[in-house]
Amino acid sequence: MIGTGYLGATHAVCMAALGFETLGLDVDVEKAAALSSGRLPFHEPGLEVLLRDQLATGRLRFTTSYEEAAAFADVHFLCVGTPQRADGPGADLRYVDGAVEALGPYLTRPCLLVGKSTVPVGTAARLRARLAQLAPAGQDAEVAWNPEFLREGFAVQDTLRPDRLVFGVASDRAERLLREVYAPLLEPADGREPVPLVVADLATAELVKAAANSFLATKISFINAMAEVCEAAGADVLPLARALAHDPRIGGRFLSPGVGFGGGCLPKDIRAFTARAEELGVGRAVEFLHQVDEVNLRRRTAVVDLARELSGGDLCGRRIAVLGAAFKPGSDDVRDSPALAVADLIEREGAEVVVHDPMAMDNARKVFPSLSFADSVTEAAVGSDVLLHLTEWPEFADIDPHALGDTVAGRHIIDARNTLNPSHWQAANWNYRALGRPS
Ligand code: UDX
Repeated sequence: MIGTGYLGATHAVCMAALGFETLGLDVDVEKAAALSSGRLPFHEPGLEVLLRDQLATGRLRFTTSYEEAAAFADVHFLCVGTPQRADGPGADLRYVDGAVEALGPYLTRPCLLVGKSTVPVGTAARLRARLAQLAPAGQDAEVAWNPEFLREGFAVQDTLRPDRLVFGVASDRAERLLREVYAPLLEPADGREPVPLVVADLATAELVKAAANSFLATKISFINAMAEVCEAAGADVLPLARALAHDPRIGGRFLSPGVGFGGGCLPKDIRAFTARAEELGVGRAVEFLHQVDEVNLRRRTAVVDLARELSGGDLCGRRIAVLGAAFKPGSDDVRDSPALAVADLIEREGAEVVVHDPMAMDNARKVFPSLSFADSVTEAAVGSDVLLHLTEWPEFADIDPHALGDTVAGRHIIDARNTLNPSHWQAANWNYRALGRPS
């Protein structure tokens, strides 16, 4: 496994759990050392226990040496990050290219390099040509693509029981090897249903990931666009979403209206996809994704506008309590978190913002050191003019609005995830406001 971040660490542990001799490689010495000693550098339910189990079997090890990895593996999974470029919407491929440049010269024996990272279409073909130049094994060091669809919080389950497997291959040999690797999922011994497999060419496999994340982002922005219309029309987006969900052609998942999507994948992936489509001369085909992005970002400013309105027209000098910092509950990940983006916007208008999150405070502090952080909901809410519910941690649904009401300066709550019980809050004399719902 080349790269032991979120994706690579999960995949390494799961491959070991499937019985393979597995070596995780990371250029970050500290990360490799932490994993070697059974510590995960991020939060993921069930993964740390599994990591320790697999280390104990001796099947799983970590290294920082490309030479060792090249000598070790028949199959190399490329799991490095592809963040958004600092200077534009496209993907920054420096880690992907760097890994191939570092590994290639050591590849003296037949092997398969399997890309899992999300990359712009055409990358796999380019890497294939480059690897043939770099590797002493020449054409025997091949490239395949096997996109990853795992969700944070469900990473182990999504890796060991994925909805589907996608193989992008350029030869029968590559397909054969991938089938061997994934045999435990494709031909389960325990009588379970085999995981559906789609075999395609390299470019199609790369595009599947871009298409899947674009579709999911579009679904969320669609319901958030309906929320905007509901706000203007005095209608309610929640029963509207429920009514849509009953149509099996639409379905209810990814149809929860709120402050929109964030995280390390959806926002950057739709931007990288549109940038790549423009390069290919088909920017118009995915032009709507610009609007998906805009609708999504507009929900963040809608929360700020509402907070300003509830603060009497000016946020300057107000105290605003923010519940949630992670981009979604169950995670300590704050990458492109809508909650922190809103907190930052409000602070820029001169308000004092106090944030509480059950798990993501350390990460949030690193990214937004100027925000204030509180260890509990009560501490965050003390003296606040407006309370913002921005990440739907289950414990926030259990807050007692009566008790909390005694500590705040103003009983205004914005439920930007639509998961609190309005009558609960209203019964305690709070002004409960939500996105896409009548006030
Ligand atoms: C996503 C994809 O689901 C996964 O398949 C892909 O491989 C990586 O990106 P992840 O980033 O872990 O996974 O989060 P996900 O659970 O998909 O949520 C993404 C964002 O959308 C979160 O900010 C979430 O709060 C938001 N969301 C999700 C909504 O606002 N409404 C919804 O109905 C669903």
